[in-house]
Amino acid sequence: MAESTKSAKLSIDGKEYELPIFAPTAGPDVVDIRKLYAQAGVFTYDPGFTSTASCDSTITYIDGDKGELLHRGYPIDQLAGNSHYLEVCYLLLYGELPTPAELEDFECRVTNHTMLHEQMMNFFRGFRRDAHPMAVMTGVVGAMSAFYHDSTDIADPWQREVASIRLIAKMPTIAAMAYKYTIGQPFVYPRNDLDYASNFLRMCFAVPAEDYEVNPILSRAMDRIFTLHADHEQNASTSTVRLASSSGANPFACIAAGIACLWGPAHGGANQACLEMLNEIGTVDRIPEFIARAKDKNDPFRLMGFGHRVYKNFDPRAKVMKQSADEVLDLLGVENNPILQVAKELEAAALADPYFAEKKLFPNVDFYSGIILEAMGFPTSMFTPIFALSRTVGWISQWKEMIADPQNKIGRPRQLYLGSTARNYVDIENR
Ligand code: CMC
Repeated sequence: MAESTKSAKLSIDGKEYELPIFAPTAGPDVVDIRKLYAQAGVFTYDPGFTSTASCDSTITYIDGDKGELLHRGYPIDQLAGNSHYLEVCYLLLYGELPTPAELEDFECRVTNHTMLHEQMMNFFRGFRRDAHPMAVMTGVVGAMSAFYHDSTDIADPWQREVASIRLIAKMPTIAAMAYKYTIGQPFVYPRNDLDYASNFLRMCFAVPAEDYEVNPILSRAMDRIFTLHADHEQNASTSTVRLASSSGANPFACIAAGIACLWGPAHGGANQACLEMLNEIGTVDRIPEFIARAKDKNDPFRLMGFGHRVYKNFDPRAKVMKQSADEVLDLLGVENNPILQVAKELEAAALADPYFAEKKLFPNVDFYSGIILEAMGFPTSMFTPIFALSRTVGWISQWKEMIADPQNKIGRPRQLYLGSTARNYVDIENR
């Protein structure tokens, strides 16, 4: 825990309260209000947590004004350019970049856990074929606690480690199987001689009748999508994982909660919503109509894939993702795809519009990831599952950090109550 270096004074009804201030290694100072209710009998009010630090953490740092994202201090563009997903997983989980021997050992441990318990196949088969893969993933990941009893005791560091490796290793298998199930194709089992991204692509696109040759450019783009989504400090799904685990729930249940939260269109569901929006726009000539709708206060429509709660300059992940999008589109020769044409023109039109500039709304990572995944042949329903599998390491790293913290206590926010005060029950015949 940080040391308090200065303090703030709060005056309520003529009485003064001194609140310690913590200095972070980067970012704004943090006023410690933990004793405020006990001392002053008041709560603070911050729905949406726009000014509230819910924990201390050493994993990820974001400076939204500078467009900076650091994992354990390393800038995301350096990691996306020079590293690869499993190395970034190691960094997030253990705090340092691995030596060659550490990386080999980690990759070997992940690779040896890629298969699912065969009985879990029955779980997939219980779903309707038209189920959304996120619904299947939420259910199957939650069900892991019924299959892996030897890694649910959160008080045992070894079990926590085994659960972490299992989740990172099995998530691509679960996401690919959820996809195969919803398109009525047989499951493709993992192959441990392939790297993490290539294995996932093969499990999604191979069929028993014909193997799938993994293109290294697509595999690299896939790995980048995983890397760019690996962690993002205390976002909604990560906070959900932390809140769920603060009660002592097992890791599989907590990650299932994170997946459920990620599904929403304001969070991980934005990449699917973005592609659906591009399809709805359909042709370049309709772009002005949709831009006008996004600017209209009386219309709830928003440009999906634009804006971010924290990044108010640019999304550093989007910069790298745009580069990948160009590479993939070049390789696949999809310049005549009308939807991708709409995406390009919409990006240019929004960036040139003062409304978006004034409100600091820029394309976010999901704008470009959706374009890449569409070009690769993924249906829109798989976009959010791919985000979920990438973010699993972030959820786990934050969960491990929280459990190991001796200050960890159950999360229990308070409220500003605006309902009725106490009143007497009225019998039904007298209402
Ligand atoms: N299109 C049009 N107007 C927008 C948009 C948008 N995409 N995003 C924000 N605005 C406007 C909004 O109407 C508001 O205007 P005003 O001040 O006049 O009321 C202003 O910008 C601020 O918006 P806000 O809702 O207060 O900002 P927020 O920080 O609460 O919302 C957001 C952030 C990401 C939820 C929002 O920008 C949004 O809904 N974007 C579209 C969904 C999306 O792409 N989400 C993916 C985020 S990146 C992936 C991830 O990390 O999960």
